[in-house]
Amino acid sequence: MVCALLHDIGDTLGTFNHPDVAATLLQPFVSEENHWMVKHHGIFQGYFFFHHLGMDRDLRDHFKAHPCYERTAEFCALYDNPAFDPHGETLPISEFEPMVRRVFARPRNGVYKAAMDTNQAAR
Ligand SMILES: [Fe+2]
Repeated sequence: MVCALLHDIGDTLGTFNHPDVAATLLQPFVSEENHWMVKHHGIFQGYFFFHHLGMDRDLRDHFKAHPCYERTAEFCALYDNPAFDPHGETLPISEFEPMVRRVFARPRNGVYKAAMDTNQAAR
């Protein structure tokens, strides 16, 4: 859910590679699978509109054998694509704030994880 909320956070910084920006921001806090999913969601979401731009909507099929293919296709079908429905159900951001705070409270990986684990153990 947090990936769904933040997967387009890179849009204003990286017009042509926003999935990379979002994936980089999320990487310390999410699983490898969710990182891959966010990093590649642009190509997978393209299934729903690339053909309107004269592009191959099946570009995602280059990743068909990847273990995260189904996860990423499902993410786009359930969360990314429905977000473009102007009549879709929405909830206030306050509904999601606790989960965002929980995910960003501590890095799961990255260079600062060990230091934070050490500090936590010392308390
Ligand atoms: Fe996106």
